[in-house]
Amino acid sequence: MTKKWWHDKVAYQIYPKSFYDSNGDGIGDIPGIISKLDYLQELGVDMIWLSPCYSSPLADQGYDISDYYNIDPRFGTMEDMERLIAEAKKRDMYILMDLVVNHCSDEHEWFRKACEDPDGEYGDFFYLREKDGEKLPTNWRSYFGGPVWDDLPGTNRQYLHVFHKKQPDLNWENPKLREEVYKNINWWLEKGLAGFRIDAIINIKKALPFRDYAPDRSDGLCSINTMLKDAEGIGTFLGEMRDRTFSVYDAFSVGEVFNEKPEVIPDFIGDGGYFSTMFDFNEAIFGQSGKGWYDAEPITPEDYKNCCFASQKKVGDIGFLSNIIENHDEPRGVSRYIPEGDCCKESKKMLAALNFMLRGLPFIYQGQELGMENIPFSSIDEVDDISSLDEYQVALDAGLSPEDALKAVARFSRDNARTPMQWSDAAHAGFTTGKPWLRVNPNYLSINAASQLEDPDSVFHFYQKLIRLRKDPVYKETIVYGTLEPAFREQHNLMAYYRRGDKTLLVIGNYQSGKQAVTLPLPYTKVLLNNYADITREGSTILLHGYQVLILEM
Ligand code: GLC
Ligand code: CA
Repeated sequence: MTKKWWHDKVAYQIYPKSFYDSNGDGIGDIPGIISKLDYLQELGVDMIWLSPCYSSPLADQGYDISDYYNIDPRFGTMEDMERLIAEAKKRDMYILMDLVVNHCSDEHEWFRKACEDPDGEYGDFFYLREKDGEKLPTNWRSYFGGPVWDDLPGTNRQYLHVFHKKQPDLNWENPKLREEVYKNINWWLEKGLAGFRIDAIINIKKALPFRDYAPDRSDGLCSINTMLKDAEGIGTFLGEMRDRTFSVYDAFSVGEVFNEKPEVIPDFIGDGGYFSTMFDFNEAIFGQSGKGWYDAEPITPEDYKNCCFASQKKVGDIGFLSNIIENHDEPRGVSRYIPEGDCCKESKKMLAALNFMLRGLPFIYQGQELGMENIPFSSIDEVDDISSLDEYQVALDAGLSPEDALKAVARFSRDNARTPMQWSDAAHAGFTTGKPWLRVNPNYLSINAASQLEDPDSVFHFYQKLIRLRKDPVYKETIVYGTLEPAFREQHNLMAYYRRGDKTLLVIGNYQSGKQAVTLPLPYTKVLLNNYADITREGSTILLHGYQVLILEM
């Protein structure tokens, strides 16, 4: 595997709307991000991925772009963006933007022109089909519920949207559209961006010609994934995009890729692959059900460990995965991966270490470094996210009571991760002086950055230590490039692995509240990290405390 400039970095995802509001309108913004760069530098991260802040009606919170060359005024100005890139550079930090090119907004100029003249140049930027009475062109269900087809206003056509109806899919089969995409990527890279996170990219290749598939719910529709499984040749688009954009700038790219088959991994993230890296969603998709969120199976510590190890094995040293415990589309990792009732400082630190020390590029989602948790919902009226609202309806349609439907949604809602960042115990968690656009988690009085910065034993400082360890010249080679070998696999509720490079490290986490003994085959020479003050030992046996995690040099 060829070494790359970004391999030893630590990435941090910002959801701009909820990060920090500089002007009191209740919406986080770019000047707010700039004012928090020192905080991020103190944490130690060096690559920052911004969820979209382009012009947008915000139907899907910015993942519906109406102008790829502008910043939405709610987030700031282009000058603010340029200042952010420059201020980051001063701190040896890199800015990544979100590349959302499977679809645009229905308020984008291209879509307006397509409505005006569906047979003209811009009609071909989208997937349009002639209306045929009540019959839809295909029976695919959009990710956010309902059919993927809607009427193209003012015409006798329908357009395809695999996400929300305000997110019409762009027609990648059209070389003119692809040129527009590449032009835009290069325009941003010229501005000094280090690269992109690439949204929903697996959807750009549709199975052609369009056809129906067997319905999988009583609505008579089928999952988009069924169609995607049938689509071949995405590599042609992805390879062209790489050659025309990222490769030219040695830019970083991380793909949002789901359900990839093991045999495509070398093409996707091997040497010269389509992307620098891609996210590992193995834990996030565990237990998913075709029926909806209400039917999803919870994940146990054993499942979590097996998911992580399976991904590591699948990728091996072919490339680099990007490891996450959460993002803006997922509930908070500590609420999801730590058994109910056990969420505490120790268990949060254990999860942090187990995830962070995996081979790959670690991503931290805003607030994760504080151990932010899911928000309690008392009514569906408190939910903003379109995906959660759809899943609530799906649960009701399946016969769940409103209380149970709310519970199902609360467990997975994307809003859990989108509540404002908890900066302090001041009003609205110090996120804004105005009224926050989304409710603040009431636990901000006990979980917030200001108090954690003062407490050397906080989750924040534990993340800081993990980051320092990754960057420590003595251990860096091993942590970044070393192999990963699972250890003590047969021991229940214990997740442990060796990282072997020029050093040998053992990461070991007791994934339960009760104590657990582990007998080491070799003595350790040094304790690099411990989330407790002590280690209880008897000869070569360590008696781990509940949720104790250790990083040992062997
Ligand atoms: C990705 C984004 C998600 C968005 C969707 C459509 O999955 O992460 O937030 O809703 O794509 O753009
Ligand atoms: Ca603002």
